[in-house]
Amino acid sequence: MNSAQQVFSHPLVYLRKINSEDAIFLLTLNGNPEVMKYTGEVPWRTLREAENFIEQNHKLSLQGIERWLVCTPDDVPIGLAGFRIFDDLPEQWDISFRFLPQFWNQGYAFITVQILTHHALYKCRQKKLRAQVHEENLASARVLEKCGYQLDHRFLWGGKSWRCYYVKPEDFQALPELQAD
Ligand SMILES: CC(C)(COP(=O)(O)OP(=O)(O)OC[C@H]1O[C@@H](n2cnc3c(N)ncnc32)[C@H](O)[C@@H]1OP(=O)(O)O)[C@@H](O)C(=O)NCCC(=O)NCCS
Repeated sequence: MNSAQQVFSHPLVYLRKINSEDAIFLLTLNGNPEVMKYTGEVPWRTLREAENFIEQNHKLSLQGIERWLVCTPDDVPIGLAGFRIFDDLPEQWDISFRFLPQFWNQGYAFITVQILTHHALYKCRQKKLRAQVHEENLASARVLEKCGYQLDHRFLWGGKSWRCYYVKPEDFQALPELQAD
């Protein structure tokens, strides 16, 4: 991988821009019911859904809101992560991350959340970053809590219970290499 394409790099993973050639990977990821179980989204079935996402992601990136592909240092795509905004909270950045099951429990979400939280709070100067987590998604809650995200409240959505977390600069449990500059 040309290092110029790496938006965020770390010895364990790098994040890069999504392009039209990533549609098949995105369909594999978001078409997997195990991956989508706690996201509140319906698993994708067609390549067209992946292509629409890529198009939408590009449009949002022009406003600074973007999701990237997470890859291992040897260029294997393993997940999707970045920021999104919800219509009812238009000013509030929300962190999003998901990985193929064969890469779970190897610390990839933890390091990705570290990288993105550092970027949002210290580079983009967001006052706080939000995360919403399905009540039963214990792995996701664990990752966020290890990074210093604080449970703010619970809410019902789509008939399920969700946790709303926020992290502020003073709460962020940043790794030494991801401290504020
Ligand atoms: C949730 C998810 C992102 C976690 O990714 P990951 O790369 O496996 O996470 P990490 O390896 O960095 O850390 C997982 C942590 O959760 C813990 N964990 C895993 N399964 C758990 C469970 N069932 N109960 C409690 N803790 C659990 C692990 O032990 C680890 O904690 P530790 O480092 O203290 O041991 C991944 O499972 C995933 O992509 N799921 C599908 C999509 C999704 O739910 N995304 C999040 C939406 S908010």
